[in-house]
Amino acid sequence: MYEQDSLSALEAITEAQRIAFAPMLFQTALCLRNFGILAYLDAQKKSGATLDEIVSHSTACEYAASVLLDMGLSGRIVTQKEGRYFLAKVGHYLLHDTMTRVNIDFTHDVCYQGLFDLQTALETGQPSGLKHFGDWPTIYPALSQLPAAARKSWFAFDHFYSDSAFDAALPHIFASKPATLYDVGGNTGKWALRCCHFDENVRVTILDLPQQIALSQENVAAAGLSERIDFHAVDMLGDAPLPAGADIWWMSQFLDCFSPDQIITMLSKISKVMKPDARLCILELFWDAQRFEAASFSLNASSLYFTCMANGNSRFYSADKFYHYLEMAGFRVEKRVDNLGMGHSLLICHKQ
Ligand SMILES: C[S@@+](CC[C@H](N)C(=O)[O-])C[C@H]1O[C@@H](n2cnc3c(N)ncnc32)[C@H](O)[C@@H]1O
Repeated sequence: MYEQDSLSALEAITEAQRIAFAPMLFQTALCLRNFGILAYLDAQKKSGATLDEIVSHSTACEYAASVLLDMGLSGRIVTQKEGRYFLAKVGHYLLHDTMTRVNIDFTHDVCYQGLFDLQTALETGQPSGLKHFGDWPTIYPALSQLPAAARKSWFAFDHFYSDSAFDAALPHIFASKPATLYDVGGNTGKWALRCCHFDENVRVTILDLPQQIALSQENVAAAGLSERIDFHAVDMLGDAPLPAGADIWWMSQFLDCFSPDQIITMLSKISKVMKPDARLCILELFWDAQRFEAASFSLNASSLYFTCMANGNSRFYSADKFYHYLEMAGFRVEKRVDNLGMGHSLLICHKQ
């Protein structure tokens, strides 16, 4: 996919300007959506609308609507014919596509301000942008205390991607009829609840940081499943001993929160305590396992969220590199399923 430099010089200098002014285009798209201009143009699909009509049907004044629409034309979000504006296909997706909405909100509410500090984060290995939200070493203990918009958009982003893969992964995980499953980094308890609904006999333990455990306990109690779901508050990077009884150690969108050294150390520790016939099941997004260029683009962009906001040292990995870390930790992949949900890969691994 990335072997050829196929753009002409004109296309390349055009693309370079889109990068140079990318924040303007991004904020324009967001404002066209938030001022109701995209929705109004969507409702006027056939006839389009004049500037005056748009102003009287949105929350934007004439000046605001005119600068947004001009940039919207340059950004191919809208088109214009004989003085009337129309929603272009890009505008349609900005308005209606859930994935696009989740990505835009995540970029704006969680990452935008912090990205200004990307270079410092890269130089120091610290999530330098996180200071915009408060004084924490990583974003994880802060999740439950983020400003409301950031918190909402963080969880919407996380759940949008993992949720879509959960249903597809369940039959693969329960094919071996596990009696006990550990959900490492179980977050709000969504996967644990899905497991209990899928198999009436399974018991699940959620392992996560204490702040997240408190949140998942509430959700599990609200779902009436406290009898079948246990909780184990733990820092997986610490030295505390781990429980050992699981048939399945499940990690969904978890290992991308750690550096290669941390992954190898953590998995080596699990390999020592897990039952010999237990399986490590990893649900991850790998940028080199994607069918669509836009998916690899989104993952490589999201890696910079880890750099700037999350922890300063992790990322979405390539499957190629990730296999190496598994091997270093003493695991072998016995089954791989790609393209689950929005492009997740499931790796079922055993101890070597
Ligand atoms: C990106 S979320 C993934 C959530 C969920 N598994 C999913 O698929 O949607 C990562 C989870 O790992 C947890 N986590 C991060 N660092 C951790 C650590 N050092 N020890 C235990 N849990 C940790 C976070 O609290 C969070 O719940």
